[in-house]
Amino acid sequence: MQYRTIGDFTVSAIGLGAMPMSIEGRPDQARSISTIHAALDAGVRLIDTACSYHLLAGEVGHNERLIATALKSWSGPVDEVLVATKGGHLRPGDGTWTQNGDPAYLKQAARQSARDLGVESIGLYYFHRPDPNVPFEDSIGALVDLLADGVIQRAGVSNVTVEQLHVANSILDGRLVAVQNEFSPRHRVTEDTLLECESLGIAFLPWSPLGGITNAKSLGETATTFEQIGQAHGVSPQQVCLAWELAKGKHVIPIPGASRPETILDSIKAQDLVLSEDELAVLG
Ligand SMILES: NC(=O)c1ccc[n+]([C@@H]2O[C@H](COP(=O)([O-])OP(=O)(O)OC[C@H]3O[C@@H](n4cnc5c(N)ncnc54)[C@H](OP(=O)(O)O)[C@@H]3O)[C@@H](O)[C@H]2O)c1
Repeated sequence: MQYRTIGDFTVSAIGLGAMPMSIEGRPDQARSISTIHAALDAGVRLIDTACSYHLLAGEVGHNERLIATALKSWSGPVDEVLVATKGGHLRPGDGTWTQNGDPAYLKQAARQSARDLGVESIGLYYFHRPDPNVPFEDSIGALVDLLADGVIQRAGVSNVTVEQLHVANSILDGRLVAVQNEFSPRHRVTEDTLLECESLGIAFLPWSPLGGITNAKSLGETATTFEQIGQAHGVSPQQVCLAWELAKGKHVIPIPGASRPETILDSIKAQDLVLSEDELAVLG
């Protein structure tokens, strides 16, 4: 088992992305709870969610409430688990995603997320996605206020450029602890932010680390080098992918999504997979 830190909190090196349990194709609640419990029992100590992880209008917070339910019925040490949620991205219920970076909205959304998670204070709260209609600085100002009010304990940003992560860290007075950007074998353009986070001592969390819900299962077919190296080790290409991401730095914490126990249990084995320098050089 490998561990990483997000600010002052120690988490497992692989987190659980909970989104597939609440959007299109989601399983029933019993399977979702089994998936979350399987992850926790196997040592996962980070769960990633957002108030927008739901399907229908009127279901805002579906994923957060699911996680709260799972944690309530888990017999393990709940205080060791960091539940990270996000605000500023919305689903009106027609399949689209919209943005709202208005500080007043973000502050009420974070308070609602705390209620849905059943906590006094959120362990890690991200501004989900910059809103082109609201100055980025104003949205980050909401995180400053939420920290001051104790609604959130740690602040992060998602879907940002190198410049934006610097702006956020500056407005937060050096208290930016996490950046969550898309990063996978098929989406490497954000590697500049991964590297910048390392130099600043900020955790970097690749989202859709396996290429996203519709591509994850066929990763080995599209990224054949990952398949070949997996075969040499007798493991799945998904494990190779996550081990490759972990090897990019001690600040990297992939959050593979799952909607069934088998997949998250396979993914977390990536923590024990050691890739050689030659293999890492081939993977890039
Ligand atoms: N910040 C953002 O804007 C943003 C955007 C998107 C996602 N996210 C976060 O990132 C998380 C991960 O992204 P994602 O869920 O979009 O994509 P992903 O992690 O690349 O792929 C998820 C899919 O991979 C499958 N899978 C997981 N482990 C596997 C394994 N070892 N072998 C085979 N298949 C495996 C799962 O299948 P099963 O469903 O069958 O278990 C799941 O549907 C999300 O859950 C969410 O928390 C954040």
